[in-house]
Amino acid sequence: MFTQIACLLLYVQVSLGAATSGSLLSSPTTVSPSTHSSSTASITISVPTSTATPNPGGASFPPVGSITRNFSPTGLDQLWNVVGPVESPPFTTTVEPQTPVILPSPPPTLYPSFYANRPKDILSDYKYPKGFIFGLDTAAYQVEGATKEEGKGPSMWDWASRQPGAIADNSTADIADLQYYLYKEDVARVAALGVKAHSFSISWARILPFGTADSPVNQQGIDHYADLIQYHLKSGVEPIATLFHWDTPLALQAYYGGFTSGQIVDDFVHYAKTVFAAYNGTVKTWFTFNEPRVFCGQVASYPFNITYAPGVNTSTAPYQCSYNLIHAHAGAVKAFREMNIVGEIAFKSDDFVGTPWRKNTTDDAAAVERHGAFQIGVFADPIYTTGDWPTILKDTLPPEYLPRFTEEEKREILGSADFFAIDAYRSQYISAPDEGLDACLSNGPSDPEWPQCNTIREFDSNAMWAVGASADVGAPWLQDTSRFFRDAMKEIHRRWPTQKIYVTEFGFAQPFENERTELYRIKEDTDRTNYLMSYLGEMLLSIHEDHIPIMGAFIWSMVDNAEWGQGLSTRFGVQYVNYTTLERTYKRSALALSEFFEAHLQ
Ligand SMILES: *[C@@H]1O[C@H](CO)[C@@H](O)[C@H](O)[C@H]1NC(C)=O
Ligand SMILES: *[C@@H]1O[C@H](CO)[C@@H](O)[C@H](O)[C@H]1NC(C)=O
Ligand SMILES: *[C@@H]1O[C@H](CO)[C@@H](O)[C@H](O)[C@H]1NC(C)=O
Ligand SMILES: *[C@@H]1O[C@H](CO)[C@@H](O)[C@H](O)[C@H]1NC(C)=O
Ligand SMILES: *[C@@H]1O[C@H](CO)[C@@H](O)[C@H](O)[C@H]1NC(C)=O
Ligand SMILES: *[C@@H]1O[C@H](CO)[C@@H](O)[C@H](O)[C@H]1NC(C)=O
Repeated sequence: MFTQIACLLLYVQVSLGAATSGSLLSSPTTVSPSTHSSSTASITISVPTSTATPNPGGASFPPVGSITRNFSPTGLDQLWNVVGPVESPPFTTTVEPQTPVILPSPPPTLYPSFYANRPKDILSDYKYPKGFIFGLDTAAYQVEGATKEEGKGPSMWDWASRQPGAIADNSTADIADLQYYLYKEDVARVAALGVKAHSFSISWARILPFGTADSPVNQQGIDHYADLIQYHLKSGVEPIATLFHWDTPLALQAYYGGFTSGQIVDDFVHYAKTVFAAYNGTVKTWFTFNEPRVFCGQVASYPFNITYAPGVNTSTAPYQCSYNLIHAHAGAVKAFREMNIVGEIAFKSDDFVGTPWRKNTTDDAAAVERHGAFQIGVFADPIYTTGDWPTILKDTLPPEYLPRFTEEEKREILGSADFFAIDAYRSQYISAPDEGLDACLSNGPSDPEWPQCNTIREFDSNAMWAVGASADVGAPWLQDTSRFFRDAMKEIHRRWPTQKIYVTEFGFAQPFENERTELYRIKEDTDRTNYLMSYLGEMLLSIHEDHIPIMGAFIWSMVDNAEWGQGLSTRFGVQYVNYTTLERTYKRSALALSEFFEAHLQ
């Protein structure tokens, strides 16, 4: 996720799935009107307080090529030395959960029925279509912890999370939820809620510690995910895997500049083939990349001072990344098909097309087109509709920024997805930049709004009413815009029509949740519950009244976790995680989802 420009230059807010961060490429400016019990798991463990101090002076990342390829244990140590010391987890074996998990008694109703329905009574005449998937999301870096265990190589986020100023609360994800060893409990707890699927990501650096096609495979990593997948299947929770959720193996950044180099393509395809072969027939729905636009948008500005491939600079890095990543995606999908891997594959788009802020201003309508092209079309046009970049991008960005595809490349890219996936956290108004669209375009790179030349407006143009209730201050990009959901889905389906859409992430950070100390207050996540119930109701209307083929809804997130640049203190879980004990507790939203889906799935 993605969208606003962070206030601090060095500090880009990255948020889990939908909206975040501020690089020139990927984030148009956002303007705000102001300046801006039985439910608890039984394990008890004590996590030692942090001993790893963030890198005090802030070391620059090793220049490209300065670390030579050495695939021995010494070579792996050398990579970990770039990161520095990491915290060890309090235990290093997979915990067997106590089953069956007994759900707590349901919470009292939130509102009288004259004001709002309880979850099971929302649009009770409508059901989701047969085969609809109700899932919860996580991502490897954000939940696994155990970051240096069982042969894993470092990822760029292991490095970034200890650079000064990188993470708002100075936390790392060295331990986080320790889902690496607690996955059985997490799966058992969501199975008890009636959750049908878990969308998780595989850590590339666990499978291939050095990332490259010629590096050794880490059998412990392969075995770990095999066990995890089998446990899901045994528990009736479908495992859905993403190959890349932003955790680039550090080795690849050091060897050649990661995704800013074309060398990433073969290495990614090799990684994908390794994983496809290992889990063929057990995972049936695959994603290559999570929110590539957000990832490439921040490749230039975050993590800090990373090195680029020769000839690439901060301005061009996001587009070189997009070009390489799209080839990596298409190459992986080609391999998936050639290998006859069972199931379906796509990538996860994010963000929204938008609504013109002022009805009487043609520039705002043009700005909406720009927003849709830069935020979604950049990957969705080549993959779903034309094989090529959106015309708006080609008209704005010269080939030195955005490399052009050959006809042969276009043919390989077009059609390299079996369905559409969208992380649809929000949808907002869009206007032309204050200086005017034409001025922005003719100013070119010297204009801070260039090349997107559009501005997100989080309030209406008449009376400055907010588009929706605000999430926690740790997620300033997020408002509850469920009332825009149907229009947002219509726009997406009109522009990139497919037979099937999954809404692969949406979720909410309950205001002040991290400031609370009493569990009974934390569990009462009213705003998150309202957001989820409103969204899911709008989704029923989208399916039944607008005939949008939505076949899955995945909520971010299964558990509180490491929210990128915000660290552990911005919480998106439908379960609370106590980071001292690692205990999980169901919040109201988890039980609301359970009740809602029990009534609406067939
Ligand atoms: C990034 O590089 C610049 C220039 O070398 C340096 O001044 C700055 O301290 C570095 N920042 C970090 C966070 O390492
Ligand atoms: C994070 O660390 C920096 C540098 O040590 C410090 O200035 C800042 O107050 C810390 N922030 C938090 C939230 O602890
Ligand atoms: C994947 O599984 C399918 C069905 O069993 C099989 O036809 C195909 O050959 C397998 N591919 C690989 C690479 O194992
Ligand atoms: C659009 O309408 C607003 C509010 O009525 C007005 O202030 C503005 O001048 C109008 N803009 C144009 C271009 O007509
Ligand atoms: C980055 O590279 C582009 C394309 O070569 C060039 O036009 C631009 O001036 C460069 N920017 C900087 C800051 O060097
Ligand atoms: C988390 O666990 C610690 C240690 O048992 C406890 O002191 C604290 O109150 C717990 N936090 C919450 C919100 O329950």
